[in-house]
Amino acid sequence: MTTTHEADEDARNADILIYVNGELKPRAEAVVSVYDSGFMLGDGMWEGMRLYDGVWAFFDAHMDRFFDSCKAVSLDVGMDRAGIAQALRMTAEANGMTTDVHCRLMLTRGVKVKPFQHPSLSRSGPTLVIIMEHSRPVERLQSRGIRLATVPQVRGLPMSQDAKYNSHSKLNCVIACLQAEQAGADEGLMLDPHGFVNTTNACNFFIVRKGAVWTSTGDYCMNGVTRQKVIDLCRADGIPVFERNYSLVDAYGADEAFLTGTFGAQTPVGEIDGKPIGTGERPVMARIQALYNEAIAQDVARSRAGAAGL
Ligand SMILES: Cc1ncc(COP(=O)(O)O)c(C=O)c1O
Repeated sequence: MTTTHEADEDARNADILIYVNGELKPRAEAVVSVYDSGFMLGDGMWEGMRLYDGVWAFFDAHMDRFFDSCKAVSLDVGMDRAGIAQALRMTAEANGMTTDVHCRLMLTRGVKVKPFQHPSLSRSGPTLVIIMEHSRPVERLQSRGIRLATVPQVRGLPMSQDAKYNSHSKLNCVIACLQAEQAGADEGLMLDPHGFVNTTNACNFFIVRKGAVWTSTGDYCMNGVTRQKVIDLCRADGIPVFERNYSLVDAYGADEAFLTGTFGAQTPVGEIDGKPIGTGERPVMARIQALYNEAIAQDVARSRAGAAGL
């Protein structure tokens, strides 16, 4: 078993400092209350971001999603995006981190006065935690690819729990992940309520057929920053790209399939439900990876120029 979030072992991660509400704590002391709404109810939002050469890639897109989802559930962040940037900077500096770093930024509604659901029971402000780890995705996945299993757990309709919430309550995804593991796969391929192929439990999902890139309509999956970047890069480079409904027949017969997410960027899919995908040659994904790396380099350069006031 392996996951798309598998990183090379890095002993330095034993000694990281973790940001907890403005303070930097050694790993073992970085704790939140058992009354915290995130622990009790999964009532919180998070972002996963990656640091390249001192710059958080696509920071604005991450902050757009984060602030939008917090607003949608009336979760007051308690600071603006410059404040978040400052908290990230403080944590990275304290850890001496500049590149090959992944962070999980988590905000919950905070500590409750009673162990019950009502949001008004959180009265002392939100809890903000930033975990930053040294992180390089393992190389072997690039050749072997991830093994997916289609799982019974589906993505829900937006009026139950909108998949666009990057919320702490990930039970829908965790159940899908367990089902995939029990089927002997690495990650679960999830369908939408109509039976069309949608996404995986932790990443967005793409296929390539006859040179064209297909992904789901986006109605039932996480509005992934990497997903959108891949779509935009394909458009700009003249690679045909479609957000459309398609079924497992199309996925099994694809020439290539890959996952997207901030952690692993693009991760190839080796097989789905025991069926090998394509021949193992992945020219379109390789092209997209090259475009993505260029886009990150441009984002880093732009951000540095901005910081230097150019
Ligand atoms: C369920 C799910 N799908 C996809 C993604 C990938 O999103 P992004 O590309 O913004 O990292 C995530 C990451 O948060 C996720 O939780």
